[in-house]
Amino acid sequence: MENQCSQIMMFRSKLKSKLDPMRYEHSLSVSFTCLNLAMCHGYDMDRAELAGLMHDCGKRYPDEVILKKCNKHGIELSESELETLPVIHAKYGAWLAEKSIILWTGRFWMPSAATPQAGLR
Ligand SMILES: [Fe+2]
Repeated sequence: MENQCSQIMMFRSKLKSKLDPMRYEHSLSVSFTCLNLAMCHGYDMDRAELAGLMHDCGKRYPDEVILKKCNKHGIELSESELETLPVIHAKYGAWLAEKSIILWTGRFWMPSAATPQAGLR
């Protein structure tokens, strides 16, 4: 079984192949910021790093394409989201991140469930 460090490296590699270079660098920077914030505030650092890394994974398509993908996959959008299409990448990204992680690892990646750490949220 891979350890969490090699899994996060695999996630980085996969994401790098999917995003444009600027978006990937941004995602990497956000993941480091999330990791640091988690360390300072006692949150699960692996989850925080993964969340930061994947936070913009839905931004690789234009808004109209994301809207079609949401409709295709039954991702419900509110009226306010439909009126403000640039925000729908977040909801599509959450769906895509979950599907991608399952595809890449064969399961939903839950480091805290695998290794409970007292005191971490
Ligand atoms: Fe972002």
